[in-house]
Amino acid sequence: MKILVTGGAGYIGSHTANRLLESGFEVVIFDKLTTGFRNAVPSNAKFIEGDIRNEAFLADVLISEKIDAVIHFAAKLNVKESTLKPLDYYDNNTGGVLTLLKAMETAKVQRIVFSSTAAIFGDKVQDRAIFEDDPKAPLNPYGYTKLMSEQILQDASNVGSIKYCALRYFNVAGASDSGNNGQRTADAFHLIHLGVQAAIGKRKNLQLFGTDYPTKDGTCVRDYIHVEDLADIHLLALQYLLAGGDSNYFNCGYGFGYSVREVIEMIKKVSNTDFPVIEGERRPGDAASLVADSSKLKSVLNWKPKRADLELICRSAYQWEKSLKE
Ligand SMILES: NC(=O)c1ccc[n+]([C@@H]2O[C@H](COP(=O)([O-])OP(=O)(O)OC[C@H]3O[C@@H](n4cnc5c(N)ncnc54)[C@H](O)[C@@H]3O)[C@@H](O)[C@H]2O)c1
Repeated sequence: MKILVTGGAGYIGSHTANRLLESGFEVVIFDKLTTGFRNAVPSNAKFIEGDIRNEAFLADVLISEKIDAVIHFAAKLNVKESTLKPLDYYDNNTGGVLTLLKAMETAKVQRIVFSSTAAIFGDKVQDRAIFEDDPKAPLNPYGYTKLMSEQILQDASNVGSIKYCALRYFNVAGASDSGNNGQRTADAFHLIHLGVQAAIGKRKNLQLFGTDYPTKDGTCVRDYIHVEDLADIHLLALQYLLAGGDSNYFNCGYGFGYSVREVIEMIKKVSNTDFPVIEGERRPGDAASLVADSSKLKSVLNWKPKRADLELICRSAYQWEKSLKE
């Protein structure tokens, strides 16, 4: 079986590509290398440089490579940038899904696993874990690009032969168990990535946005999922679709959250450093708490988390960041 992985030169895509290869799939990575890296592509995967909005080229690739299914990671994902350049985000993320689905239709490829996000939920549910069917109310254009993409997938699936799984990731972090792969993104904007960069001295300090949220210690709470556990979920979702499973969507997290302060303390512990933390005002668009209810993932896909441990996540991210510096 041959899988096209769009965005497979990026952080989550490259980890998933490795998992697919280990499981016996052939992998073709299709990436524009905007935020991805050529050296993140596994040596036993084929690499094709291209833009997912180039429908004709994509259709050619799907046909000539005899692709059986697609895992679609390629997207822009900087929330702040999406508020400044919303049209670029709709064009790349939502427009990209449209061209990809049209190319898949031409090439008669009918299965797709899609990278969605907890950002589709906004801040409607703050006091408990979020279920798949909870209200959707994105707080920024990035979240809307993904919610609109889910809608397009659902509409296409209702009338055609496309079957999809939308995976709504909560906060993804950590590096591979082997220490050979992790987050390379030059422009870091995720807490754990920023924190480990502060710990190794790549940044002077770490900024903490908002200390007056209605949470256990006043800082935002997030559900951090290890990138390797998330790679397992992609494999399970793909196998589910290939076995004839119907279109579906899953919240991807562990079902418990940590506050920003708890994460910072953990990074300081695993790195044995005490980098400065600058406390500031809340940032617009940040929900107080985002925690996934993952019972559907466990019951339908039989997912068993293996790395639900903040210390392990922070330690692997720290060691990876240190290895990049060395
Ligand atoms: N990292 C997270 O915490 C997180 C959380 C929720 C959802 N997601 C989603 O997961 C997916 C992967 O995120 P990531 O963290 O690995 O980011 P990343 O930036 O490392 O990877 C994205 C990849 O997509 C490629 N790309 C972007 N636009 C493209 C285009 N038009 N054509 C071809 N390639 C293109 C980039 O070059 C990059 O390799 C994204 O869809 C993102 O929205 C990530």
